[in-house]
Amino acid sequence: MTNKITSMAEYYQKYQESVANPEAFWAEIAESSFWRKKWDKVLDWRFDGPGAPMVNWFVNGKLNITENIFERNMFTRKDQVAIIWEPNDPKEKEVRLTYGELFDKVKEFANGLLKLGVKKGDRVAIYLPMVPELAVAMLACARIGAIHSIVFAGFSATALADRINDASANVLITSDGGFRGSKKIPLKDIADEALESCPTVEHNIVLKRTEQDVKWTEGRDKWWHDVIEGVGIDNEAEVMDSEDTLFILYTSGSTGKPKGVVHTTAGYMVFSEYTFKNVFQYNDGDVFWCTADIGWVTGHSYIVYGPLLAGATSVMFEGVPTWPDAGRFWEIVAKYKVNQFYTAPTAIRALIAQGNEWVTKHDLSSLSVLGTVGEPINEEAWRWYHDLIGGGKCPIVDTWWQTETGGIMITPLAGITPTKPSLATLPLPGVQPILVDPEGNELKGNGVEGILCIKFPWPGMLRSLYGDHKRCHETYFSMFKGLYLTGDGAKRDEEGYYRIIGRIDDVINVSGHRIGTAEVEDAINQHPKVNESAVVGYPHEIKGSGIYAYVICEDLSEDEMGTIENEIKATVTKFIGPIAKPDKIQIVSGLPKTRSGKIMRRILRKIGEGDATNLGDTSTLLDPGVVEEIITGAKVEVKR
Ligand code: WTA
Repeated sequence: MTNKITSMAEYYQKYQESVANPEAFWAEIAESSFWRKKWDKVLDWRFDGPGAPMVNWFVNGKLNITENIFERNMFTRKDQVAIIWEPNDPKEKEVRLTYGELFDKVKEFANGLLKLGVKKGDRVAIYLPMVPELAVAMLACARIGAIHSIVFAGFSATALADRINDASANVLITSDGGFRGSKKIPLKDIADEALESCPTVEHNIVLKRTEQDVKWTEGRDKWWHDVIEGVGIDNEAEVMDSEDTLFILYTSGSTGKPKGVVHTTAGYMVFSEYTFKNVFQYNDGDVFWCTADIGWVTGHSYIVYGPLLAGATSVMFEGVPTWPDAGRFWEIVAKYKVNQFYTAPTAIRALIAQGNEWVTKHDLSSLSVLGTVGEPINEEAWRWYHDLIGGGKCPIVDTWWQTETGGIMITPLAGITPTKPSLATLPLPGVQPILVDPEGNELKGNGVEGILCIKFPWPGMLRSLYGDHKRCHETYFSMFKGLYLTGDGAKRDEEGYYRIIGRIDDVINVSGHRIGTAEVEDAINQHPKVNESAVVGYPHEIKGSGIYAYVICEDLSEDEMGTIENEIKATVTKFIGPIAKPDKIQIVSGLPKTRSGKIMRRILRKIGEGDATNLGDTSTLLDPGVVEEIITGAKVEVKR
């Protein structure tokens, strides 16, 4: 397979080349893609100045990403399995789609979208469970040049509506329902509720999955099977410019409003394929399984685009790790003889807690590479993963990256880079990290700790925030001139290896999901009895970070006092989804604020961590008494 590094010496050589001459480096990689027309110039960029950030890769190149997945692979891989789909319930039969079959489904659904009048540049929101049609829908959008915006099917109606409206999507694709463990999620009902406040949506395409009853809005709602009725599979891909938008994916930031991260066609394509091949050292014929949901960036890049561009066989799993029992993951590994397995530390920790017998009864001998993503992996989890799951023989790739980066940035190359537990190790070729102090001075040399930034563009990077280019500049490029700000703190050890420490902004990493504290506060404040709230993260054994909410309520009766916590949780579930539900809620009578009214989160974080001994200087507080009250968990006045 081309463009694959095979030794540490080669890694260092490629890395040097990629820094000395990034354009030549990426051009050579992009040569192996299928272009309708080659680029005129490899890179055009500025992080500052008028219209910044301006990042154009493979300028004036013409292509379609699906031609790189299908037409390019058709001679050699028509009958090779592209996607193995494992249903939620092990009693249901799996689905194997070859490249040829998947191609036909994509072209057919693309034709269905065209029949409805969907055009290049239209935004299509997708709110589906982890079924093969989710991959089909996104690839069909890419085929016709429509921009997909996938919304994780665990988000609430309000969160879905916000995302649809921010992108002014004119199509929604959903299903009657979705299976998740023992539960049936009424996705169509949730979508119906969302659509009440989404005036731009003309078509709601509904896939049958659970066969549950749904309400129907004539004119707007259309069954998936009716949309594809009679459209055939002849379809010519839309020719896209390198910098045409491929997709939008919303992620949380430090303000309440989610950000629509914009990724474009050619750069994302080249980067996702290159990173996939190199990080996991995928070999032809291997079976790769990434357990993420396609609703997150990990699923975009390493269930669908990266693996399929590389001609891999990719496993897609509809269910959850602990249902019907805690051996579900390992049963699937054994069933499909999975070679590369990629998951999140939170899943590992949750499974450790279930006991080793769920692992040892399955044959995991097919595994050759293990990966993690989404949050720092603690040493204990790393050891268990390495020793028990990998049988001591599989390298672990701890991959650091973000929705904004499009693909993996700092990571070992499996079996090549010597690893150390909890370290993401070294940047991939083409990735130029830099650590700075809060004033923006570069911290040179090894054995330093600072704010992680990237100083040169890479093909997979975000290009904008949908509808708000200025916010993109403000969020990522304004704190330190000329640098992309990741929002993470990191340490470079004596050997030059990176250890990611965690977010430096008001974003909490809960079970590998990014949750903005402001978003949760906004949701909590929707409860009629809530006056104000402050949300911080605290260390949580399984989730990595848990959500701790300090809430001021007005005039609670004793009865209300007993129910308020559950009501607040329900409110957050309604406005965002269960993933953002606070783990701890403390009703307080005041919050520690500076005289200018700013909440001192540092103090709340310390208290949340259970470490109230060293709160630092509290003399600038408006009312230092509240701190004591919060520490002792002082009861607020109860109205009688
Ligand atoms: C965190 C997920 C430590 C980090 C692909 C980052 C990590 C955020 C790692 C992005 C890792 C991701 N070690 N922390 N290997 N990978 N993170 O956008 O804080 O959902 O900024 O993308 O997850 O989360 P996102």
